Amino acid sequence: MKGTPLTEQIFNYIVEHFAADEATLSEMMQKRAAEAGVPMIMISEEQAKFIGFFLKAIKARRVLDIGTLFGYSAAIMSKAIGAAGEVVTLEFDPLHAKVAHANFKHLGLENISLLQGPALDNMKTMQDGIFDFIMIDADKINYKHYLKESLRLIKDGGIIAGDNAFAFGKLLEHVPETDPDFISVNAVREFNETFASEKSMFSCVVPVGDGLVMGFVKKHK
Ligand SMILES: C[S@@+](CC[C@H](N)C(=O)[O-])C[C@H]1O[C@@H](n2cnc3c(N)ncnc32)[C@H](O)[C@@H]1O
Repeated sequence: MKGTPLTEQIFNYIVEHFAADEATLSEMMQKRAAEAGVPMIMISEEQAKFIGFFLKAIKARRVLDIGTLFGYSAAIMSKAIGAAGEVVTLEFDPLHAKVAHANFKHLGLENISLLQGPALDNMKTMQDGIFDFIMIDADKINYKHYLKESLRLIKDGGIIAGDNAFAFGKLLEHVPETDPDFISVNAVREFNETFASEKSMFSCVVPVGDGLVMGFVKKHK
């Protein structure tokens, strides 16, 4: 292969030197979530730093976070865009939403709006072209629907990102029907292909965390 595989030592080096604040925030939020019984399926620390870095670089103002969990990705985005911006985060599970609300309050993050309910239903109520950045990180089976709605909700020149492009490390593995991830892995495979061939996007995969697909959306020729 070309390039350097990301070993655990290199990952730790990156976190220590470049994502220490993101690691501290993750640890603090994880502790509060674990006490409430919320699963630890948030983005990784170096991925969080990349997303914060990227939002600052594009001067994002309004962002959509699909899949809140206990609020880590939303908190990272909230800090990156600052008080003048807005993060809208979508969560189906009432317990996750409750813990995320408590986390945002504890952290004093007032620029986050959490909408509880099926993400797709909430997305369908939103106006066209209002977000600078959209991050898809909820149920994989609905990724293709989130992408379709995201292409409507994103501004011209905005960015759509999807987490788990490497399908929990199973992207290129043989995954039998008995595997609990069978449906999700196949949904990610289909999503990646749709994403890569979408004509209105210039797309790439960034190998942070479990893989982040990103597309720059150009709505007009
Ligand atoms: C991988 S976690 C999100 C992690 C979060 N983005 C982070 O990194 O901090 C996925 C979340 O999506 C939520 N979810 C699953 N299906 C959903 C749906 N149909 N609508 C809204 N949220 C959903 C789950 O309850 C879970 O909290």
